[in-house]
Amino acid sequence: MSQKKIILTGDRPTGKLHLGHYTGSLAKRVELQDTCRQFVMIADAQALTDNADNPAKVRENILEVALDYLAVGIDPEKTTIFIQSMVPALAELTMYYLNLITWNRLKHNPTVKLEIQQKGYGEEVPAGFMVYPVSQAADITAFKATLVPVGDDQIPMIEQTVEIVRKFNRLYKTETLVEPEIVASTMARLPGLDGKAKMSKSLGNAIFLSDAPDALAKKVKGMYTDPTHLKVEDPGKVEGNPVFTYLDAFGQDKSKIEELKAHYKKGGLGDSIVKKYLLDELTAFLDPIRRRREELAKDPKHVMDLLFKGTQAANLVAEATLKDVKRAMGIDYFG
Ligand code: TRP
Repeated sequence: MSQKKIILTGDRPTGKLHLGHYTGSLAKRVELQDTCRQFVMIADAQALTDNADNPAKVRENILEVALDYLAVGIDPEKTTIFIQSMVPALAELTMYYLNLITWNRLKHNPTVKLEIQQKGYGEEVPAGFMVYPVSQAADITAFKATLVPVGDDQIPMIEQTVEIVRKFNRLYKTETLVEPEIVASTMARLPGLDGKAKMSKSLGNAIFLSDAPDALAKKVKGMYTDPTHLKVEDPGKVEGNPVFTYLDAFGQDKSKIEELKAHYKKGGLGDSIVKKYLLDELTAFLDPIRRRREELAKDPKHVMDLLFKGTQAANLVAEATLKDVKRAMGIDYFG
């Protein structure tokens, strides 16, 4: 048996991926695929928990997310990329795990609570949405993943997965399921273009990996900076100024960035000059990604083929775990 660490992670296909996804987890995935056995899942079933009225949107974004993955360098030779709903063992595991967690515990998941609030569900939250952290536990444990590289909004999901794993193993006196741990990003969380804490598609404050050069230029130009930095001569704030946070994340010349920061703090450096510098750095980062993406997008059948192969491989692993789970529970009636 290989001692390689196992990774399972994924994204809901509800839109194209953006720079926040890159710093939050895509960068880690590209790095870790060389040393770990990595599974990356396009979480269409989870996306449907709050998009049941719009499956077409989910369907269309499967290809978009796959293109984003391939364009940033997730390599299908090293990473198994697959579609969640086409691995039925995940749904079955979810059924069994639902009995190991209380309704009360689900109601207190902070990420789910926040999402319910943002979506304005109140008491009318879809039941599937309420329990998606349990299906996430199924995703992770089906692959016996030990590492889950995700953004920090996903921490409560990993905690709940660990609880389910412990409960399962204790209850059924087994070591079938494996406890995962989160792999935190080593990059700072990327604020939105508007300076809000998080870059997000729904907040409309994101730079997408696929943004065309003119869209990118427009977004950078319109970025929020230090609102007290009115005149060029005014001293400006670097902390909490997204232009500098992005430079820290994507700028190549660290000493040049330090120089710009010092100048900005002292006064005499205009926002438009820093933004122009940032635009050049982002362009250097995003251009090759966008080009690769455009190339891959010419042959969607090839991409779907890769997903098909990945899904076949994922099914083998998840089915084996489901078998182990049923055996541990003593419900493998026909052997
Ligand atoms: N919840 C993740 C997101 O919002 C997607 C996801 C589903 C996931 N299952 C997972 C992430 C398992 C990590 C592990 O994008």
